[in-house]
Amino acid sequence: MSDFQSWVLDIQTRTESVLATLLPSSDTTPQQLHNAMRYAVLGGGKRVRTLLAHAAGELCGAMPEKVDSAAAAVELIHAYSLVHDDLPCMDDDDLRRGKPSCHKQFDEATALLVGDALQTLAFEVLAQPGLCSDANRQLGMIQLLAQASGSRGMAGGQAIDLASVGLNLTQQELEFMHIHKTGALIRAAALLGAQCSEQPDESRLCAIDQYAKRIGLAFQVVDDILDTQADTATLGKTAGKDAEQNKPTYVTILGLERAKALAEELHAEALASLAPFGDAAHRLVQLADFITRRAY
Ligand code: IPE
Ligand code: IPE
Ligand code: MG
Ligand code: MG
Ligand code: MG
Repeated sequence: MSDFQSWVLDIQTRTESVLATLLPSSDTTPQQLHNAMRYAVLGGGKRVRTLLAHAAGELCGAMPEKVDSAAAAVELIHAYSLVHDDLPCMDDDDLRRGKPSCHKQFDEATALLVGDALQTLAFEVLAQPGLCSDANRQLGMIQLLAQASGSRGMAGGQAIDLASVGLNLTQQELEFMHIHKTGALIRAAALLGAQCSEQPDESRLCAIDQYAKRIGLAFQVVDDILDTQADTATLGKTAGKDAEQNKPTYVTILGLERAKALAEELHAEALASLAPFGDAAHRLVQLADFITRRAY
């Protein structure tokens, strides 16, 4: 196992245990809701956002225990977004992370409430006293996650996604959608990890921001490519779903080869933003490679 693989495994393992502790136990009333929340969050997912938070935190000298909480908050929002994304009124997807989607395993009303509850739990975690030595900065972190998740972030991007079915978007319009529905939360993950340090340096934050914007967009370009190229077993979610639902994607707008070239271009731009850090940014470099060249 490479050094990067063992680092990934280590962060994934600690993420699982942090989330397992933060989520109410399955025997807490209402049991079905808590059981469904644990089902949606635990035991799956690449944990890319958590990895980004830890890599950015490491680069800025943050204590990993603090990054754990900020990263968990992002992961909870992400899990909620997937539960809602799979609902029949959205992408109507029966498979997620190799298991029945939350509304299939439980029911639609439960899935709706799982999303609601995960979202508020995320903010409870991020608001916990002492996460940041500077209370004002912590308020800024809460605001950052709220903006990244709301109508000017992920939820807004999802609204555009649904309104774009069957439309011929321009590349600029598609980029706007992707930056919001996926890029915003990925950017928040990296910035929140960095903000966990005692005194984050503005120029460092700015470089991490540039990196995260490029890699966040690359992430969704690759998701669009994989939807057409990978199989359901590898993805753990239904392959070919975008075409089936007539969604505009980077593959429909640019074609496969140009979409792949764009992912590589964004990857190169992301790496260029890290130049000021030199070798210290090696985890973020490795994550950019992982995000761009992943198979699922
Ligand atoms: C899938 O995200 C949804 C998108 C934003 C494209 P991930 O590919 O990070 O999903 P998990 O967490 O690994 O299952
Ligand atoms: C979803 O994008 C982005 C979210 C905010 C959840 P997709 O609809 O492409 O995600 P997948 O392919 O179902 O994971
Ligand atoms: Mg969707
Ligand atoms: Mg979907
Ligand atoms: Mg997709």
